[in-house]
Amino acid sequence: METLTRSELLTDSTAIRQQFPILNRMVKGKPLVYLDNAATTQKPLAVIDALTHYYSHYNANIHRGIHSLAEEATAAFEATRDTVKEFIGAAHREEIIFTKGATEGINLVAYTWARKNIKAGDEILVSGMEHHSNIVPWQIIAGENGARVVPIPVLDDGTMDMSAFQRLLTKKTKLVAVVHASNSLGTINPVNSIVAQAHAVGAKVLVDGAQSTVHLSFDVQDMDCDFFVFSGHKVYGPTGSGALYGKKELLETMPVFHGGGEMIKEVSFEGTTYNELPYKYEAGTPNIADTIALKFALDFVNEIGKETIHQYEQGLLNYATDALEQIKGLKIIGKAPEKTSVISFIVDGVHPQDLGILLDNKGIAVRTGHHCTQPLMDRFGIPGTTRASFAMYTSYAEIDALTEGLERSIKTLL
Ligand code: ALA
Repeated sequence: METLTRSELLTDSTAIRQQFPILNRMVKGKPLVYLDNAATTQKPLAVIDALTHYYSHYNANIHRGIHSLAEEATAAFEATRDTVKEFIGAAHREEIIFTKGATEGINLVAYTWARKNIKAGDEILVSGMEHHSNIVPWQIIAGENGARVVPIPVLDDGTMDMSAFQRLLTKKTKLVAVVHASNSLGTINPVNSIVAQAHAVGAKVLVDGAQSTVHLSFDVQDMDCDFFVFSGHKVYGPTGSGALYGKKELLETMPVFHGGGEMIKEVSFEGTTYNELPYKYEAGTPNIADTIALKFALDFVNEIGKETIHQYEQGLLNYATDALEQIKGLKIIGKAPEKTSVISFIVDGVHPQDLGILLDNKGIAVRTGHHCTQPLMDRFGIPGTTRASFAMYTSYAEIDALTEGLERSIKTLL
């Protein structure tokens, strides 16, 4: 890594690939071509080593013991909080609540802030391209409180209909919950503008950063969102790690979520008082090892540079888009001008699942189906797509392998 220059990274992913041991494996006798990065990214040696090192050297419970191992583990765990704060541009470390991923972060906000503040007749606006995890928690709370979840339409190119958003935004709107980058289409939503408009009517905004945190440079203070969530496993970190960001003044006034150890100040049968932020929302023994290792993933990304990664991935996206558009009968779903490196497509007369199986036989991993965005698939009148999603270690040769694999598989299926 030390000897690699930024320009080399833009033209050659080989050095980066060496940091990801899994990329050397074979699948069905063929070299793995891993193009399912929107589902989860692979892990660099730095992350794998951090996990091994934790369990071999300082495994202990945190915030509780006064012994050396507990202190070392606590320091490493809390160091991740500082790194996450910097990574997303939060103002205060106590605004970072560790979760097991974006889904848990959204549910935390739904069961605390929304349950308390969403009243009968209120509306929660969500875009029509949301992942189920940014629809269902709001439906649950809206159902309990007599509120409504209102979808913001998606245009034919896969962008959010901003005029419709403006029309739907009223005094009834108490929350806008919107994905920063679509997992199914790659569309990057204009979150700064969405936040500003929502705030103008007094609504709060939750931004789902599950698919953007790995690809884009941003700053939650600049975005001015009230809540932001992401999953560690989609940013080269371990599964079961992630964080919720919330503005301090909001988190401070929100009700507690899970009850248990760590989230309390004093417990008695006469009454219990709660801990300060961020511990108020971190009941029980957290996912210590994976949260510690998340720092190593974010450091890895920082070392290369988000801008460098973004430029490299945009090159891959353009190259793959051009190549796939040459394939007869293939139609890309989602052609927003601003996209992350995700391509979803359908092929005339070919079921996505059949395509996925044939590609797997060639060692090529893609995702097929509705991608946990059924309302979006309904919007396009399709049951699902085949999705190829790229990461900083994806090579141009792998995109050639995908193109060739697709051409051959389609011939077999038609
Ligand atoms: N939400 C993840 C995906 O899009 C799992 O694949």
